[in-house]
Amino acid sequence: MGGLRHRHLAGRVAGLASRTGYKSGSGDSWSQVSHEFSFIVFAVSGGPYRLNHRIVMAPLTRMRAEKESFAPRPLNAEYYGQRATPGGLIIAQASPVMSTGRGNAGTPGIYSDQQIEGWRDVVNAVHEKGGVIFLQLWHVGRVSHSSFQPGGVLPVAPSAVPIAEALKTMTADGKLVPYETPRALETSEIAGVIEIHGANGYLIEQFLQSHTNLRTDRYGGSIENRARLLMEITQAVIEVWGADRVGVRLSPYGVANDSGEADPMPLYSHVIRSLDPLGLAYLHFIEPRSSGAGRAEVNHQNVPSAMVLFRPIWRGVLISAGGFTGETAEAAISAGHADAIAFGRIFISNPDLPRRLREGFPLTPCNRATFYGGEEIGYTDYAAYDPL
Ligand SMILES: Cc1cc2nc3c(=O)[nH]c(=O)nc-3n(C[C@H](O)[C@H](O)[C@H](O)COP(=O)(O)O)c2cc1C
Repeated sequence: MGGLRHRHLAGRVAGLASRTGYKSGSGDSWSQVSHEFSFIVFAVSGGPYRLNHRIVMAPLTRMRAEKESFAPRPLNAEYYGQRATPGGLIIAQASPVMSTGRGNAGTPGIYSDQQIEGWRDVVNAVHEKGGVIFLQLWHVGRVSHSSFQPGGVLPVAPSAVPIAEALKTMTADGKLVPYETPRALETSEIAGVIEIHGANGYLIEQFLQSHTNLRTDRYGGSIENRARLLMEITQAVIEVWGADRVGVRLSPYGVANDSGEADPMPLYSHVIRSLDPLGLAYLHFIEPRSSGAGRAEVNHQNVPSAMVLFRPIWRGVLISAGGFTGETAEAAISAGHADAIAFGRIFISNPDLPRRLREGFPLTPCNRATFYGGEEIGYTDYAAYDPL
């Protein structure tokens, strides 16, 4: 598919290692470990990559790409550069791999030369500060509207199942409308779309889950068949970049965008067991208690923890995200539930988050009103903490 032909980007977007090897972090700026955070500030490494600490920036859609070309622009490079740290991992925001994969205004793509050039500047800004960056590859499937589609056609999905009427979408000209009934993809259209976005109710998750996938071909029905698209995409991306530059993000038990599997354990156990032998850079969960994305705060109580449930069947590096604080991140890593924790909302408003957590500096609260779209306000104007 569209994004895969751009091999020259691959060398720019580096990744974590395929298997964990704990190191004490000696010889780098993070070796002065505080008592409070002795785990999140330790290095994690293996293979060709080394992270100096375990505070990861989660992928965050900010809808501030260049309006016509959907290419990242200098403002975006500045934003990512502000959040880069030596040996710190940033997972850049979800980016459609083809024009049919779009569902929002201002989301940067990764399917045209101009977009690739824009991403190159972002990657350079992060590398200049010694950081590591992955890009999250995206196809939204039915979470779109014909006004975003080339030629104004209906969005595509595994099956012609619309998103629940209670949920609304924004059209390209800013109207709030119900989702349309998507067009079911023909079998012949489903061939081979480094973090692969397999979460939050987008195309891959629409294929994984039984209420959005009513297909009767080899991509629907059994769990093996519903997981086929994710496995084919993962294999195709590995062939381009190599397994140790590819991660997969999943949200078992998540309900974003009208998603959700009635009995997630059999499905996600199969998926994780199938991914495990591939030697991926990492597996990345969104904990279901807190989605953070979208227009409203979501904070579910007493829900299962993806990392606790699935860690026993995943032997590689595991990253988890969703409502973590420095303290709960520390506890999760020290208990062995995850190797690193990704932070979303508090990384938006604290560009120097790793330092703040490490030093125990106060955190700046984020402003939801400026999450999506706009210019520098709520984007690059959050200051680093000044202890004086
Ligand atoms: C503004 C915003 C945009 C987001 N965009 C993405 C995205 O592009 N891809 C993704 O997988 N998750 C996305 N998420 C989810 C975050 O990566 C993260 O999992 C979530 O915010 C929970 O972490 P937190 O509690 O630390 O914010 C987004 C969340 C927010 C708040």
